[in-house]
Amino acid sequence: MSEIKIPSYWEELAEDVHQLKGVVMVVGASDTGKTTLAIYLAGELLKRRNRVSIVSADMGQCAFGPPAAISMAIPELIPEFPKNLPVHSMYFVGSTSPVGHLLQTVVGVKKLVDRSLQAGAEVVIVDTTGFVSGGAAWELKFHKIELTDARCIVALQRGRELEDILIPHERRTGCRLYRLPISEDTKVRSYEQRREYRRQRYQDYFRGAKDKSLPLSNIRLINPYDKALQRGEGDAFKRLLVGLNDDENFSTALGVIEDIDLTKGTIRLITPLEALSEVRLIRLGSIKIEEDWGDSYVRPLHTA
Ligand SMILES: Nc1ncnc2c1ncn2[C@@H]1O[C@H](COP(=O)(O)OP(=O)(O)O)[C@@H](O)[C@H]1O
Ligand SMILES: [Mg+2]
Repeated sequence: MSEIKIPSYWEELAEDVHQLKGVVMVVGASDTGKTTLAIYLAGELLKRRNRVSIVSADMGQCAFGPPAAISMAIPELIPEFPKNLPVHSMYFVGSTSPVGHLLQTVVGVKKLVDRSLQAGAEVVIVDTTGFVSGGAAWELKFHKIELTDARCIVALQRGRELEDILIPHERRTGCRLYRLPISEDTKVRSYEQRREYRRQRYQDYFRGAKDKSLPLSNIRLINPYDKALQRGEGDAFKRLLVGLNDDENFSTALGVIEDIDLTKGTIRLITPLEALSEVRLIRLGSIKIEEDWGDSYVRPLHTA
């Protein structure tokens, strides 16, 4: 993190948050420095001996973990390349954008915040997506803050683009709001750079992944309203990204479907997961992963 420039107001924020504790929600449009600040804050709190968790709730440009999922880490230190933070728990959303997946996004954030607190985190830093404009974005942010009972909102804005989101929380008892300017060292990434970032992260995640076959007798393939499943069209799922979820619907790993044989009742997929014994349900995503690890959005299959 050597090239990161630390403005003095970041240092003041770290000192305040250290005293506040609870959930810290970092909000801002794309490329406003949210992830950089979230990781910096985690490092500063660790220096102050706080137990810290980070919830990476930007499924596209995730701070760590694979895209299309929300990952949570409880680091003991912040490594030189924080993008490789070890993942404590993961929730599969199935999309790299919250648009069309608002429920999965808020439920995932809430479950991972709760799990962090159960694991003893004193401060939970939630790094969010850059989706901040319009009604759906407003609802998403409002409900995320409400559901996680955020004690602190850190807002990074260029102009006044977050004001609609911030106003309900201004002067709320028990909630601190920090409006911070954007560091001039923040770099803007193009659509192609974002896509390439995701490609790299899928590739890293699936490096060394093996071909596995699973009987569908003990495992539920969800969603039951999926039209292709109902019609028995196993071919429709080739290269679809899925969450391999445990009893609590946390994702033990992600997988990419090779094929589903609905007559034999088997699913073949690639996954880095060695032991599949904890997998109880397979959650179908809305993304296909090409051979070169590029992703493409397929509209939710159950509407097809
Ligand atoms: N304080 C800073 N000093 C140097 N580079 C920064 C700083 N803040 C952000 N950047 C750079 O700007 C880019 C976007 O920052 P990032 O934290 O990923 O934004 P966001 O999470 O809001 O999309 C990244 O390349 C990051 O390294
Ligand atoms: Mg980010």
